[in-house]
Amino acid sequence: METTHRVFVGDARELSGIEDDSVELVVTSPPYPMIEMWDDLFAELDPAVGDALESGDGRRAFEAMHAQLDRVWDELERVLVDGGIVCVNVGDATRTLDDSFRVYPNHARVLEAFESRGFDPLPDVLWRKPANSAAKFMGSGTLPPNAYVTLEHEYVLIFRNGEAKRGFEPKADRRYEAAYFWEERNRWFSDVWTEVRGELQDLDFGDDDGDLRDRSAAFPLEIPYRLICMYSAYGDTVLDPFWGTGTTTLAAMCAGRHSAGYELEPEFLEVFEDRIGDVPELSRAVGRARLERHREFVEERREAGKGFEYEAEYYDTPVVTKMERGLRLREVVGVDQDPLEGVSERIDSEEGTAAEPSETGTGTGTGTRGNSDWTSGTGYRVEHAPLSVEDRIDTETARN
Ligand SMILES: C[S@@+](CC[C@H](N)C(=O)[O-])C[C@H]1O[C@@H](n2cnc3c(N)ncnc32)[C@H](O)[C@@H]1O
Repeated sequence: METTHRVFVGDARELSGIEDDSVELVVTSPPYPMIEMWDDLFAELDPAVGDALESGDGRRAFEAMHAQLDRVWDELERVLVDGGIVCVNVGDATRTLDDSFRVYPNHARVLEAFESRGFDPLPDVLWRKPANSAAKFMGSGTLPPNAYVTLEHEYVLIFRNGEAKRGFEPKADRRYEAAYFWEERNRWFSDVWTEVRGELQDLDFGDDDGDLRDRSAAFPLEIPYRLICMYSAYGDTVLDPFWGTGTTTLAAMCAGRHSAGYELEPEFLEVFEDRIGDVPELSRAVGRARLERHREFVEERREAGKGFEYEAEYYDTPVVTKMERGLRLREVVGVDQDPLEGVSERIDSEEGTAAEPSETGTGTGTGTRGNSDWTSGTGYRVEHAPLSVEDRIDTETARN
């Protein structure tokens, strides 16, 4: 089976490279309004942001920044299928402007924006991040009443495009093979996530590239990976309009889904190109970590004196529910770069705004910030196979 992955260097306020009704899931994390690291970017997208900040008018700056995100949310409504899901990772911001400290509730503003566009909000996830002790005592130390609570959580806001759920043909393989384990469901569908760096921590890219991760505010691989497994089936396309270093695309490759992304900074695409060779190994490690964790669960459940009613079809292991029987993980066995259709024509017709195609013919290069269109990009064709399991997960020992 093959999946395709497209990355556009361009402005997500106009997703012209993405067709109407062609995306089943959006997983993204926008630049957070009123977090200082994104001030310049927002001011370039709309000079009114810079004016508001300079005059110390936080309320106006907050609204002007969200107005830029709103334009992207408008586009999501167009490209998502009916019943498609949007997952937005966003955190609130605290900031002092004009000597006045307050919180800017990004999550509430984003929720309102989606609801007013006809998306139905679904129960969200609170992602509790590791505590940053240096920021613990904001305000006046141990004296009441002027100290402030420290923000140590972010949200994953979840929306459905319209009122109706997506339909599938009965017993659709692409849905049943994409099932998750019962114990994964219990962990993933909990409304507070505390250990997201735990499960796939060692498998995450970027430990050698902390600087880039800081500058791009990348989320850990496990966030998009979980969301993709929770809210899409095999054959679906996952879009990240704020692609950054491409964590969503990596997760989609590991999870066997198609993907697309938009990113203003061409530099991030170049870094991604260097990492793509590691994807087969990463995908195998992710799949095997899930099976290993299931094996541990089986042992614990048996030790607790509980049994299993079903056997998995593709793995030598019992499962709790009938729906998990057809679960079948995939691994990446090959990655080919595949130039985006239309890149060379654009380079010819937009001389001066786009980069020359690189030697690999991808056209990755200089994008034009604030341009209403994409200027270059790249694509990948990824070959998948059923996950190879070194030692089939053997639960016989646990049974005896
Ligand atoms: C919070 S970061 C996303 C990080 C990403 N989730 C990752 O793991 O690397 C937001 C990204 O959106 C990009 N961005 C901001 N506004 C954009 C726009 N209008 N169009 C396309 N990309 C944009 C920024 O350059 C930045 O890389």
